[in-house]
Amino acid sequence: MDNVFIFNHPLIQHKLSIMRDKNTNSKEFRELVSEVAMLMAYEVTRDLQTCEVDVETPVGIAHCQQLSGKKLAIVPILRAGLGMVDGWLKLVPLAKVGHIGLYRDPETMKPVEYYCKLPDDIQNRDVIVLDPMLATGGSAVAAIDALKARGIHNLKFNCIISAPEGIKVLHEAHPDVPIFCGARDEKLNEHAYIVPGLGDAGDRLFGTK
Ligand code: PRP
Ligand code: URA
Repeated sequence: MDNVFIFNHPLIQHKLSIMRDKNTNSKEFRELVSEVAMLMAYEVTRDLQTCEVDVETPVGIAHCQQLSGKKLAIVPILRAGLGMVDGWLKLVPLAKVGHIGLYRDPETMKPVEYYCKLPDDIQNRDVIVLDPMLATGGSAVAAIDALKARGIHNLKFNCIISAPEGIKVLHEAHPDVPIFCGARDEKLNEHAYIVPGLGDAGDRLFGTK
């Protein structure tokens, strides 16, 4: 499928295997989400524009590349997307951070928006939406709908684990938005949890269950 990138980097895959383990505690889980997000940020930003600059070193002139394109904003989907923010900011410390609050109604499995606060200049930035889990795709589609409705169109979506159903739904709703993820799992179960997945990412990050 066009525009869908699954990372096969050994470090990402190794860390993912520990995150999935039900015996991994919240402290370790949080650290791993952050480390995986940082490794992914390195790959997701591979196409950033650069321009040539000459830099005077103590020994001579070096012809170097510096970033020259649009600045970045990251937008975590609350709650679980928050776990990916510090990993991203380690690599892109000047990125601005917006927040979109969505939860899945446990009866309908449909996303409900409860919060949205974005940087003033976000329309002038490239925007990466963060959420560790892409299950039915409802939350990702709703978040991207909300951003596009505010005039934001340079978007990428970065998740850690996805279900084939979620990739299809997101790709069909927003074919212009590249999807970057660490794994495409087997399926969803009857509660719309990813199988085998890693369970509830928000609960595992914040110890709420
Ligand atoms: C989780 C996850 C995604 C969403 C994915 O959030 O972090 O946002 O489910 O599911 P979907 O693709 O079927 O929409 P949840 O709704 O559990 O809220 P939380 O992050 O506050 O726990
Ligand atoms: N949200 C999660 O946190 N985990 C899933 O498996 C599906 C949705």
